[in-house]
Amino acid sequence: MAHPHGTAEQGGGYGRLLLTGAAGGIGRAVRHRVAKFAQCIRISDLPGVLPSDAAPNEEVVPCDLADRRAVDTLVAGCDAIVHLGGVSVERPFEEILEANIKGVFHIYEAARRHSVKRVVFASSNHVTGFYRQDERIDADARKRPDGYYGLSKSFGEDMAQLYFDRYGIETVSIRIGSVFPEPKDRRMMATWMSCDDFVELLRRALFTASVGHTIVFGASANAHTWWDNREAACLAFEPRDSSEQFRQKIEAAPPPAPDDAVAVFQGGVFTTMGPFDPLPPV
Ligand SMILES: NC(=O)c1ccc[n+]([C@@H]2O[C@H](COP(=O)([O-])OP(=O)(O)OC[C@H]3O[C@@H](n4cnc5c(N)ncnc54)[C@H](O)[C@@H]3O)[C@@H](O)[C@H]2O)c1
Repeated sequence: MAHPHGTAEQGGGYGRLLLTGAAGGIGRAVRHRVAKFAQCIRISDLPGVLPSDAAPNEEVVPCDLADRRAVDTLVAGCDAIVHLGGVSVERPFEEILEANIKGVFHIYEAARRHSVKRVVFASSNHVTGFYRQDERIDADARKRPDGYYGLSKSFGEDMAQLYFDRYGIETVSIRIGSVFPEPKDRRMMATWMSCDDFVELLRRALFTASVGHTIVFGASANAHTWWDNREAACLAFEPRDSSEQFRQKIEAAPPPAPDDAVAVFQGGVFTTMGPFDPLPPV
């Protein structure tokens, strides 16, 4: 394996880096930019959704995260994993169970079996979505997931902790705010993260020595924030961008009512989604 510590540029990066969720919004945005972090990038997503235009340093391996054997094969030969794959919105529990809960177990079990030493886990601000927007929290704040999706990310963080304590597999869990080209509403003025800042955080998550299991909130240097990253000081991550450039555009739209969930809770509208009746068919 290439030297896993120091900067990617100095150390030549990893031998083979696995990127799950490569066909998703963030996956497509970062796919070519993580190329410099390893000699080879193995890109994966559900069958049928991956692009056919693989670059010379890319391997395309379709895989359903719910399939334990397929994930074991997917991870074999990789030195590090950036785990973006899974259901990324609130959905009925059964869907979350397969892709996110079983999926993250399959990733960590495969990492253990194939001696992968570093994982970056795409967690979410929805792990703490029931904090109010007038509260400021750090990674030690008690988890308050705002739905099954947030619950699955909370489970993923606990999985990361277990596999560090028991097997020494290091993880940086990034509680991603909103990685989109632009914030879409007032809430995202606080949660927005530019792609440049996200890629820099990925670089630090992959190459900082001795991270144990570190939880970091993923947001740009926005004028207003709900999150304190002191618990992630080892990453020395300093975002450079800010949502402020979009303020005029965002505030041109009428504000939500003050008691609307999008204006009250950090998790916004996710706090109101569900329940999902009727029972699923047998
Ligand atoms: N975009 C954000 O602002 C944001 C915020 C918080 C957390 N996240 C997390 O970051 C990750 C990437 O987010 P995104 O916005 O690109 O989401 P996305 O939905 O665009 O991409 C997720 C990808 O995972 C794949 N996937 C779903 N189920 C799968 C399965 N069973 N097996 C294999 N692949 C499967 C999907 O096909 C999709 O391409 C997700 O884990 C998401 O929960 C994103």
